[in-house]
Amino acid sequence: MQDAQQHLKTGVVFLNFSAAVAPANLKVKVIETKAIESLVANFPAQNFTGSFQVFLFFGFFWAKTRRSNKSMLRILFLGDIVGEPGRKAVISRLKAIKEEQSVDFIIVNGENAAAGRGITPKIAIDLMRAGAAVITSGDHIWDQQEIVEFMEMEPRMLRPLNYPEGTVGFGSIVLKTGKGKVGVINAQGRTFMQPPLENPFLAVEAEALRMREEEGAEVIFVDFHAETTSEKIAMGRSIDGLVSAVIGTHTHVQTADEQIFPGGTAFLCDAGMCGPLESVLGREFKPVVERFRTAIPRRFPVAKGRVGIRGVLVDVDEKTGKATGIRRFSEDLELREP
Ligand SMILES: [Fe+2]
Ligand SMILES: [Fe+2]
Repeated sequence: MQDAQQHLKTGVVFLNFSAAVAPANLKVKVIETKAIESLVANFPAQNFTGSFQVFLFFGFFWAKTRRSNKSMLRILFLGDIVGEPGRKAVISRLKAIKEEQSVDFIIVNGENAAAGRGITPKIAIDLMRAGAAVITSGDHIWDQQEIVEFMEMEPRMLRPLNYPEGTVGFGSIVLKTGKGKVGVINAQGRTFMQPPLENPFLAVEAEALRMREEEGAEVIFVDFHAETTSEKIAMGRSIDGLVSAVIGTHTHVQTADEQIFPGGTAFLCDAGMCGPLESVLGREFKPVVERFRTAIPRRFPVAKGRVGIRGVLVDVDEKTGKATGIRRFSEDLELREP
């Protein structure tokens, strides 16, 4: 805690990525992993027939990859972690995913990690020990009371930036890594979202400019926690070129619109959730269906069974802060208690 208070003065935290811990008493079977490649480079759209042409093509690709790797920082971002199944899946797999996907920096959204509602200090610490550099959140951030005091001291646990001035906690952070400074901003949309917050478009733009000018952050990642695709796309377009990535959360369903805007900002409407697949957004589907059919309020327990880990991998040129690649990440797991 003393360290965290010291960090608050500078806004910069030095990271130790070697602090990953193995989960206890949990067996995991990975069913399927997908990193869906997006061809963001402008490869010529023609058929290569001769072997010489194929050789040239792969030679070009190899040279391009080698060049870009020299100053490339790869961010793994995982969408809303839901309940015990979601956090167990993430904690058990994060270290391996980091190695398998050559990840430099991990951000996770933990707003539903505590039984589907909010996050506790213990869960936040477990996620950080597993490898998460920053935890973002959203409209469920206040559901567990004890997180309030924790947020006062832990600047890597973010709440949306656009809460009124004076609200406890932090909406952004700049961390110093081996590949330069990385900024993370968490903001919340206003369309069909509660509570009504300050204008996220103006707040994020001002904060990104401040992080660049005052803290020297070239790489800036934005988790925009919002309901509508229109508000999320508008956010991406609004700050295209100012930040490295705008990735949406909150809907718990991964979208397939990953792209890099002309200014160099990677974008995806929603990263999806880390949680039970046989569910409605991570909750048992039967009571949710009943609620829709009858309009009678019901309890919605977190579902069980197969778990999906959903997120996105973003490659950023650490010198310019421009995104060079974006891939959706998707892995299905069978969690078995011993
Ligand atoms: Fe949410
Ligand atoms: Fe959520």
